[in-house]
Amino acid sequence: MSEAIVYERVGDIAVLKANNPPVNALGLAVRTGLIDGIARAESEGTKAVLIYGEGRTYFAGADIREFGKPPAEPFLPDVCNRIEASPLLVVSAMHGTALGGGLEIALSTHYRIAVPSARMGLPEVHLGLIPGATGTQRLPRLTGVEKALEIMTTGRQIGAKQALDLGVIDRIADGEPREIGLAYVQELLDAGATRRPVGEMPAPEPIDFDAAYDATLAKGRGQISPAYAVRAVQAACELPFAQGVARERELFRELMGTDQRQGMIHAFFSERAVGKLPELKGVEPRSLSAVGVIGGGTMGSGIATACLLSGLNVVLLEMTAEAADAARGRIEGNLGGALKRGKISQTRFDELTSKALSLSTDYHSLGDVDLVIEAVFEDMDVKKQVFAQLDAVCKPGAILASNTSYLDINEIAASTSRPGDVIGLHFFSPAHVMKLLEVVVADATAPDVVATGFALGKTLGKISVRAGVCDGFIGNRILKSYRTCADHMVLDGATPYQIDKALTAFGFAMGPFAVADLAGLDIGWATRKRLAPTRDPRERVPTYTDRLCEGGNFGQKTGKGYYVYEAGKRAGVPNPEVTDLIEAERAELGLTPRAFTDEEIVRRYMAAMINEAAKVVGEGIARRPLDVDMTLLFGYGFPRYNGGPLKWADMQGLDKVLADIRAYAAEDDYFWQPAPLLEKLVAEGRTFDDLNKEAA
Ligand code: 3HC
Ligand code: NAI
Repeated sequence: MSEAIVYERVGDIAVLKANNPPVNALGLAVRTGLIDGIARAESEGTKAVLIYGEGRTYFAGADIREFGKPPAEPFLPDVCNRIEASPLLVVSAMHGTALGGGLEIALSTHYRIAVPSARMGLPEVHLGLIPGATGTQRLPRLTGVEKALEIMTTGRQIGAKQALDLGVIDRIADGEPREIGLAYVQELLDAGATRRPVGEMPAPEPIDFDAAYDATLAKGRGQISPAYAVRAVQAACELPFAQGVARERELFRELMGTDQRQGMIHAFFSERAVGKLPELKGVEPRSLSAVGVIGGGTMGSGIATACLLSGLNVVLLEMTAEAADAARGRIEGNLGGALKRGKISQTRFDELTSKALSLSTDYHSLGDVDLVIEAVFEDMDVKKQVFAQLDAVCKPGAILASNTSYLDINEIAASTSRPGDVIGLHFFSPAHVMKLLEVVVADATAPDVVATGFALGKTLGKISVRAGVCDGFIGNRILKSYRTCADHMVLDGATPYQIDKALTAFGFAMGPFAVADLAGLDIGWATRKRLAPTRDPRERVPTYTDRLCEGGNFGQKTGKGYYVYEAGKRAGVPNPEVTDLIEAERAELGLTPRAFTDEEIVRRYMAAMINEAAKVVGEGIARRPLDVDMTLLFGYGFPRYNGGPLKWADMQGLDKVLADIRAYAAEDDYFWQPAPLLEKLVAEGRTFDDLNKEAA
């Protein structure tokens, strides 16, 4: 018998303990161990079997690392059915997270007990899949179709109490899973309880499955697996159990072969790999309990909120008492939102706003903080003045960080007497909501300062990505490139609205023009004016947006930009003035507009994104392709089911992407300069994922 399942006898009860750290994933050894364990319990004449997990959890699901490889027997659905078919009384004792195949195993046992903190769910949709080990057939038999569909299509976890109310488990008890499990089995045996196979329960009542399918597909913004879950549950209602299981398997296998499954599993592992840097192995972060924030505008107040919500004390410094009051108002507004959503209690709110937060206009109040994050105006001279003052007052070893979007961290660091302590911590707006943090490492930044940047990210619940210094770091540099490509397409004949539509159909949360309206058109206007004197004459920069800005139209905040926003509505309608302005500009430039298909829009936009991303990796600004993928996923609304731009590029075929870029370069060889790394990978027949693997 495999060591992944440890067999033990306690009187008439056989105990099967899962021992496959860290999360008792149901890999081949575990599946074999379960089958062998049940068979042995039967052959030894026991009366019942208890299944539980050693360590932090009951089974957390199938072993995701096995996906994409040839499946090995025994398959998980067969293991589930074997457990349920046993003549012995089989019971699960659950703790930690019983997820996916883990919950499916539990549903195949005849009774389920869980500790109060146990959580369970069927999160397969987050991997581009559906439950594929009888979960779509068993869960609705216990909870009814609607609840089962809600659990499966959202992939959300439920707690033990809700699971009990829904009939997913039979009892909650405090204690060690083994002890509560053994006591429960004994009680069941004493009471003469009989087997209770869920698969033999009557089929659940059907609902209007076509309507549910359409609604789920629409909600998934292009993601297909939740809609597949609807069809699998439909089979539970319409087919006998065994045929329903076969239908589930068929749908599961179909999804296993899709790019969406590959993309989402890439995202799952990359999300975990992104914070693991070989250079930080064995490097201890500095201690972190009090944080200073300079500037309490949009970003500073968001950063302060994020720190407070994660248990850090914050001293926020503003220029004047009035500005400090305004910053307090913004932070209290943010925390009020958390209170309203039930994320914090009133007592916690009071503590955070009184004890944990203090506002000041005096640099000396920063003498004790461990880390300062500067979020003042985006102006190098202002930043240098701030850092000179921080250098004078902060204690030795305090980390001095800048939230700058574009400015050179090396230059900022060089203006202090302690460049080793200086780093970029680039948050995204709103900083207490957005998951991404770019940790920008300058030439002199000390390794333990980098490690502290990552430790802060973890404390704040962010996905932290290491970035090198360049204009815009990873994300904003790539954004500039694909945004420019969109601008070119407008000059050549597409409308901003067609482009936004094509890209939301691809899966982006918003198109680039709707994003620009949200961020404020004045920012881009200021940048264009700043760069105009030094601009290369070959650069194509449309000026029609300047006309909008000159008229005081800055996007959502003024009610008008590319779109017109009615009061109280977040989504806008196309602004007819924009079309006129574009036509006037094309006429002035002597451009004859041509038609673009949505497919061409996506191909060009993605080619621009991939090409710049390949330059970012090639130059070492991002260490690995997966770092770019996670930046775009968590900071720029890239659809998770497409994995990230470089994973998507791999799936398209890098030769195809490069061929596109070369074809576009025939029209504009200034903008479309193929990335050397992309050319190299194509020449060698390798992929971006090969680079990820080499770096692991
Ligand atoms: N298979 C393989 N490895 C897994 C895994 C799984 N199902 N779940 C977690 N791991 C690995 C992680 O990659 C990580 O590895 P690393 O240390 O090398 O980076 C390690 O286990 C620890 O994971 P986390 O860092 O995520 O630990 P947390 O404590 O933060 O979270 C968890 C634990 C809630 C279990 C989380 O890991 C999780 O959500 N896992 C995925 C659960 C899941 O999706 N299950 C369904 C699988 S699909 C399925 O079952 C199909 C079936 O229907 C046929
Ligand atoms: P903002 O204009 O909303 O806020 C700046 C704040 O800094 C103001 O409240 C101002 O009073 C204060 N301030 C200016 N000089 C100061 C000084 N010397 N000492 C103390 N306080 C001072 O600006 P925003 O948008 O918050 O941006 C701040 C920084 O964050 C900039 O570097 C920007 O590039 C960066 N950033 C902005 C993002 C955004 O989406 N707005 C996203 C990521 C980074």
